[in-house]
Amino acid sequence: MSKIEIKDGIYWVGAVDWDVRNFHGFSYTTHRGTSYNAYLIVDDKVALVDTVYRPFAGEMLDRIGEIVDPSEIDYIVMNHVESDHSSSLPEMLRIAPGAKVFGTAKCKAGLEKHFTCKMDFQAVKTGDELRLGRRTLMFIEAAMLHWPDSMFTYVKEDGILLPNDAFGQHLASSGRFDDEVDQHVLMEEAAKYYANILLPLSPLVKKKIEEIVGMGIPISMIAPSHGIVWRRDPMKIVQSYMKWAAGAAEKRVIIAYDTMWGSTEKMARAILEGIRSEGVEVRMYRFPYSDSSDIIGEVLEAKGLLVGSSTINNGILPTLAPFLTDLRGLKPKGRKAAAFGSYGWMGGATEEIEAALKSAGMEIVMPALKLNWVPSSEELKRCEEFGREFAKKL
Ligand code: FEO
Repeated sequence: MSKIEIKDGIYWVGAVDWDVRNFHGFSYTTHRGTSYNAYLIVDDKVALVDTVYRPFAGEMLDRIGEIVDPSEIDYIVMNHVESDHSSSLPEMLRIAPGAKVFGTAKCKAGLEKHFTCKMDFQAVKTGDELRLGRRTLMFIEAAMLHWPDSMFTYVKEDGILLPNDAFGQHLASSGRFDDEVDQHVLMEEAAKYYANILLPLSPLVKKKIEEIVGMGIPISMIAPSHGIVWRRDPMKIVQSYMKWAAGAAEKRVIIAYDTMWGSTEKMARAILEGIRSEGVEVRMYRFPYSDSSDIIGEVLEAKGLLVGSSTINNGILPTLAPFLTDLRGLKPKGRKAAAFGSYGWMGGATEEIEAALKSAGMEIVMPALKLNWVPSSEELKRCEEFGREFAKKL
């Protein structure tokens, strides 16, 4: 292994997980893997900021071992309790039993519920500092970004922000920096990460960024706990976060649907034609071939959402349920939406979709389009008109 120094005396000592394909249970698909980033700062005192997911503890220790003896680590900063960053802490404390642990008070409470190992823990607040020698770490509490315990660590002399999950991406890559990976892939994964993890916390994201800007601290690099380090243009991801937090979106429509015998699919395709004829871009996804977290990533930057389902048992096809559950939890703001679908006798799917869209805080701009059995050519024209009308409302 070769050492990866992100700045003089500051090293990436994390691990790349090329194989993981889901996160947070199965609620977030990670088609491109991820990385668990930990950082080692070598000064008069040696500090480790965050650890890695437990199966990768050996890899982290090997990386640390190339730089210092791991038993000589003086401080371990825990920005976040979640297992992908904390579950190697007991192993680190077994190897470096004298290391003092820093984190928020909520972090302490969370660690005590996760692990039984003894630790010398010091709770810190925003503005508290830890002197390493030539360098100083300053702590910034970041409650609910994205857990109550979350915290950012700032290396004052270098202007490096270590914000844990914030500004991260689930992206396994050989490059460790933003200028070493494909830019389209990078921003796609950053947007998907924001949409699936931070979207409902957007007001807090905006407030925290404004707070940090207000502190007047220079930021030369942002090194999150997943994905790449932003060094070429760290403000690019900060500006993207401000845009996403404000709910800004493109004039684009996402159609997400499933069909039983093809009638709702015919409707979806005719609606797409109608939207397209108004010069508005449409992207269409069918469940279960597309997964919920990918589509949520698309909804982040699209003004319109149309959801369709055939009716079964007076409700939606079960394949739509994870997506509607995600929407209700993530609540994308300022989006226009409507429902459509075919039914045989009682109906019920479009009503269930509308209820979910309303509960997700979306504006239902048109009554649902419901068609009985197989759509006739006249009814398909109605579908096209439905698409045209929806496009005009964006
Ligand atoms: Fe909230 Fe990457 O863990």
